[in-house]
Amino acid sequence: MIFFFENNEIHAIAGQTVGSALLENNVRVLRRTRFEGAPRGMFCGIGVCFDCVVTINGVANQRACLVEVEEGMRVEGFQR
Ligand code: FES
Repeated sequence: MIFFFENNEIHAIAGQTVGSALLENNVRVLRRTRFEGAPRGMFCGIGVCFDCVVTINGVANQRACLVEVEEGMRVEGFQR
């Protein structure tokens, strides 16, 4: 299945989370911090740290490590 991160095509398998699919496709930086622009990505992988928050299909503050990939979904980082 295919979804999009920052308009780039990402391949995933059914049942995979957005975060794990991005890691598998060598996407390490999902967003940057507001003031210092420090990179953030997958850290805990279990929904605790909120480092992986992204916008999915227009809905902000979704944890990439918890949301299952769906065909054609659009994922955006922020503060880039
Ligand atoms: S990686 Fe920690 S909440 Fe997603």
